[in-house]
Amino acid sequence: MSAVTLQVQLGARTYEIVIGDGLLNDISNIIQGSVDAQIVVVSNILVYPLYGVPLEAALRKAGMRVFSIVLPDGEVNKDWPTLDKIFDSLLENACDRKTMLIALGGGVIGDMVGFAAAIYQRGIPFIQIPTTLLAQVDSSVGGKTAINHRLGKNMVGAFYQPRRVVIDIATLASLPEREYRSGLAEIIKYGVALDADFYNWIEQNIDLLLQREPAALMYAIRRSCEIKASVVGDDEYETKGGRALLNFGHTFGHAIESALGYGVWLHGEAVASGMVMATNFSCAMGRIDLKTTERIIDVIKRTGLPLRPPDIPADVMLMHMSRDKKNENGDIHLILLDAIGASSLDGTVKRDAIHNYLANLPNINQ
Ligand code: NAD
Ligand code: GLY
Repeated sequence: MSAVTLQVQLGARTYEIVIGDGLLNDISNIIQGSVDAQIVVVSNILVYPLYGVPLEAALRKAGMRVFSIVLPDGEVNKDWPTLDKIFDSLLENACDRKTMLIALGGGVIGDMVGFAAAIYQRGIPFIQIPTTLLAQVDSSVGGKTAINHRLGKNMVGAFYQPRRVVIDIATLASLPEREYRSGLAEIIKYGVALDADFYNWIEQNIDLLLQREPAALMYAIRRSCEIKASVVGDDEYETKGGRALLNFGHTFGHAIESALGYGVWLHGEAVASGMVMATNFSCAMGRIDLKTTERIIDVIKRTGLPLRPPDIPADVMLMHMSRDKKNENGDIHLILLDAIGASSLDGTVKRDAIHNYLANLPNINQ
């Protein structure tokens, strides 16, 4: 299977997303043009032994200067103390502003390393090498970087684009099933919120995706990255409305993650249940019909991802939703559906209506 190269068009900061099977075997050639200084691979205790050790060896063999920083694993460690470990190590090794960070891991590593790159010595370059499905289809592209705050998910961060994204689908072979399915949620999101043709394709190919069939996987990753690249190219800083649509299901989903405690539900699990809530809410508001609603919920159901949120009181959900970054002037802004593939940002929904919906969620069989 040959590699595919896409571009995120951002003027002088335009960068490539390279997608292929086995790309890490050729990593020094792929990144050669982007690196002329010290490389620092930042990974975690789980991913580093699998892909970091051979990556470091390959870069060294190609004559590059490289060392690694190995962080603890998990969403619960996407925080200041862990971020600070990156700065400790960069400073102990006298890393200057030409240092290139490589984020090797899932979305937690990607978001955290991106943020470290954004603020270390006021900004150094970084490359994303995502190793989870979720990171390959979403978080590694587009330059949203962040850590969590105890009062809210991804609340401290920066927009900061990588120099390149290298997606090797071979790394998915070691990904646990639960994590893999979590990534499917973000793929479904693109179809439901933005692209009806892609949604139809997902509906027809969901079983192949569940089997990790390479051609289906390659297409789903490529199409997701194409959609994301196009949205980010048009609305990098989420000021024009387009990029916010990538947050379909996330207002509810982030509230679930924050309310439960980070890492209890996976991001994709919270997003799946959040998409069901946003879909049902769109239906309750008369924006989409019942047949469309059932079609969307059925695809999510086939992935085995949660359809119902965990037991969180409506008041608590609403409090967390009130801290969402899309909100303005105290109003909660939701992404709602007008059809499959057509979503919009709505800031006019009254809190009472959201509370009432959360307190009386429709009964859905898992
Ligand atoms: P994650 O980074 O925690 O990775 C999931 C688990 O899989 C971890 O235990 C990780 O160590 C392990 N892992 C990673 N690659 C592996 C591999 N190839 N084989 C075996 N195990 C592997 O979680 P995630 O789902 O990748 O990312 C979730 C994070 O991404 C959340 O913090 C979310 O907020 C963020 N996110 C960011 C954006 C963005 O635009 N920046 C978009 C979506 C999600
Ligand atoms: N994951 C949403 C965004 O990048 O905007």
